[in-house]
Amino acid sequence: MASTSTRRGPRPPRAPGSFRERLDALRDDPLSYVDRLAATGEPILRLRILNVHLYVLNDPALIDEVLVKQHQRFTKDTYTRRLSEFLGNGLLTSQGSFWKRQRRLIQPAFHRKRIAGYTAEMSGLAEAMVAGWADGEVRDVHSDLMALTLEIVGRTLFGADVTDRAAVVGEAIELVMARYAGDFVEMWTPLWVPTRKNRRIRAAVGRVDEALHEIIGARRRSGADTGDLLSLLLHAQDEDGARMNDRQLRDECITLFLAGHETTALNLSYTLFLLAQRPEIQDALAAEVAEVVGERSAGFDDLAGLRRCEQVIKEAMRLYPPAWSIGREALEPIELGGYHLKKGAQVALFMWSLHRDPRYFPEPEAFRPERWTAEFERALPRHAYMPFGGGPRICIGNAFALAEAVLVLAAIVRRFRVELAQAPTLALTPSITLRPRDGVRVRLTARAG
Ligand code: HEM
Repeated sequence: MASTSTRRGPRPPRAPGSFRERLDALRDDPLSYVDRLAATGEPILRLRILNVHLYVLNDPALIDEVLVKQHQRFTKDTYTRRLSEFLGNGLLTSQGSFWKRQRRLIQPAFHRKRIAGYTAEMSGLAEAMVAGWADGEVRDVHSDLMALTLEIVGRTLFGADVTDRAAVVGEAIELVMARYAGDFVEMWTPLWVPTRKNRRIRAAVGRVDEALHEIIGARRRSGADTGDLLSLLLHAQDEDGARMNDRQLRDECITLFLAGHETTALNLSYTLFLLAQRPEIQDALAAEVAEVVGERSAGFDDLAGLRRCEQVIKEAMRLYPPAWSIGREALEPIELGGYHLKKGAQVALFMWSLHRDPRYFPEPEAFRPERWTAEFERALPRHAYMPFGGGPRICIGNAFALAEAVLVLAAIVRRFRVELAQAPTLALTPSITLRPRDGVRVRLTARAG
């Protein structure tokens, strides 16, 4: 594909398809279109959608430029920034020195030692979920896992029992995700415009705010420092002694609640979907759990031994990355891979297609957890696999999520076998996250013993 030149230098090759085709493809089946872009083999492609100049990167070295080497010359893309309609100025959406300060304040809650402290809760809640399952029944495990991961974030980070608030949070998530799934008009209509959908979303997010204010208020009144994230946020101080006000607290809490539970639930749902078609891998995992953990509740020290469980989780995140894309915006004119990008250019990275690149993942469509050996990981170029993003804005919850996913998986496979109770193809809804449109339905068989 020939590249064109501008006064300031060459521009990347144009993405395939006419304007109309691109618009339709992005709305109706963005995953296939993203695959088509990757199949061109071009490290960078440009496409224009209305007045937006979008650049799609398909090369780990260029991604490294954007996320790491030149990260200060980029900010989050306009699509991500739109999320501040709901998330305010929390860690995911904030920028610059303000983001840096907040990240520094919050980081200690995700320290290894803290995560070790959360694992008993993670395993305990997972075991309670599994204890409610019965031999022979068919369940939508995606819905179970959404409730479980919400409860885990609630208990570990906020010290709050959120069981009775799950419906409120669930409703808000459904509406927000629907807003960002394909309909450009809906997506770009500001939330203050009083359409019927906007009013519903605002009311639902208002109910989540109420729940959060209750949790925050109760903790403020009790004055207790329970050592969890909420205490940390309430007691955190800057070098100049400033504390977070209620508005900022709300923004960080809602961000962590939303970013911290749906993604992990999705990873576990896809893991079970894949495992349900591979009984022999399930048996191997059950054997690993029996050997490493026995009949105890799995804890932090078991994680290193649960290697096969971890491989399965990683492979599921490769094939079905819960965050299937991320984006950045150029704050100034940029040179990237020998091409010129204007200030304001939107840069998109699609984990969906990166993770299926046959250069790095032989038989990319195959579910092969055993590929995740230490040597394989060492040989992968940085950013060829990036379910948690990369650079300074890498997911703050990555170690938390991995620990949680492995422990929940261990709790499930030791008690039950799963087989698919639906078609072996998944209808996917790419929104901010990649969601199974109709859930994941499996039939459960209790393991003997
Ligand atoms: C499998 C689970 C998860 C996946 C796949 C995931 C994915 C990601 C990705 C790709 C980013 C980077 C976004 C960007 O660069 O634009 C991110 C950021 C973030 N994630 Fe996660 N995440 C997961 C779990 C969690 C958990 C458990 C938490 C918290 C409890 C969390 C909280 C956050 C926050 C606060 C950010 C913003 C960080 C910053 O910009 O400083 N995530 N996540």
